[in-house]
Amino acid sequence: MIAIPPIAADRLPALLRAMPKAELHMHIEGSLEPELIFALAQRNGVALPYASVDALRQAYAFTNLQSFLDIYYAGASVLLKEQDFYDMAWAYLLRAQADHVLHTEMFFDPQTHTARGVSMATVVNGLHRACMDARTQLGVSASLILCFLRHLSEEEAFETLEQALPHRDQFIGVGLDSSEVGHPPEKFARVFARCRELGFHLVAHAGEEGPPAYVWTALDLLKVERIDHGVQSTRDPALMRRLAQDRIPLTVCPLSNLKLCVFPSLSEHNLGALLDAGLAATVNSDDPAYFGGYLNENFTQTFAATGLGAQHAYQLARNSFEAAFVDAGARRAWLDQVDACFAAAA
Ligand code: HPA
Ligand code: ZN
Repeated sequence: MIAIPPIAADRLPALLRAMPKAELHMHIEGSLEPELIFALAQRNGVALPYASVDALRQAYAFTNLQSFLDIYYAGASVLLKEQDFYDMAWAYLLRAQADHVLHTEMFFDPQTHTARGVSMATVVNGLHRACMDARTQLGVSASLILCFLRHLSEEEAFETLEQALPHRDQFIGVGLDSSEVGHPPEKFARVFARCRELGFHLVAHAGEEGPPAYVWTALDLLKVERIDHGVQSTRDPALMRRLAQDRIPLTVCPLSNLKLCVFPSLSEHNLGALLDAGLAATVNSDDPAYFGGYLNENFTQTFAATGLGAQHAYQLARNSFEAAFVDAGARRAWLDQVDACFAAAA
């Protein structure tokens, strides 16, 4: 840790863009831009219920999580071949590199694809090859986290895990996403216990729209290492104390929260409150093609709207590497790069 002197407000956006950072909450299917959806639809002969790229983009007016998920799963229907998954991931990894993302942990939803007859191997091999190429060609470290769809059954999650095990060296952890309310973490307690035995890292979406109780059960029953979103935690002071004491990272996604009406405006977002309460919050893009911006847009728009400053930026950059599933040597090297960036900006 270094002392951060105040930095003039007009220099903050450039610092936010340039600072080294990790992205820990990004659904790769949510990085599928409308142009790429149309290109893949044409390449694969898939009919889309939208006449044009513009018509599709105009449908991106969401009122809650479910209204988004319906369109998000429809968009993913153009992905059929290994190269499609590669191309989608590669497009995101180029954006990540441009945003000075040094490390990214990408969520993927295999059940969205296996339900359409696409094999697990097609999905994982395409995504994993892009991760390997990112390391050598872009200097971006990238790994994969398999998410179970919580609106489906425990049995289907177990089947998905079985299908994924031949690929266990190609992903580092498992998560839980899709429709939150009515599908509490405890529904997947046995699947997560098995994944824990297998040595996977564990994360879960909790407290995005759902209550603080879901954050508690994600921690205590699923035994997750990070909470995805978690912004509803401020409603429960005891939970806030637990998250601060145990330094449980929260992967917060401000533009997602805005677009899905979790907060009425960005200026009312509680990122600052989470940080000031001592929580290990991070900033992430969630589904950047749908929510109006990649990682740097999340940083610059949120800071502009909430008045957060350089000290918060420094903390968020550090938190992102502290919370990453990487070895101690890589973490140390990246934290040193964060310090060097802020020392030079002072
Ligand atoms: N929440 C839940 N499931 C998701 C999300 C999200 O923000 N994005 C993609 N799947
Ligand atoms: Zn998410």
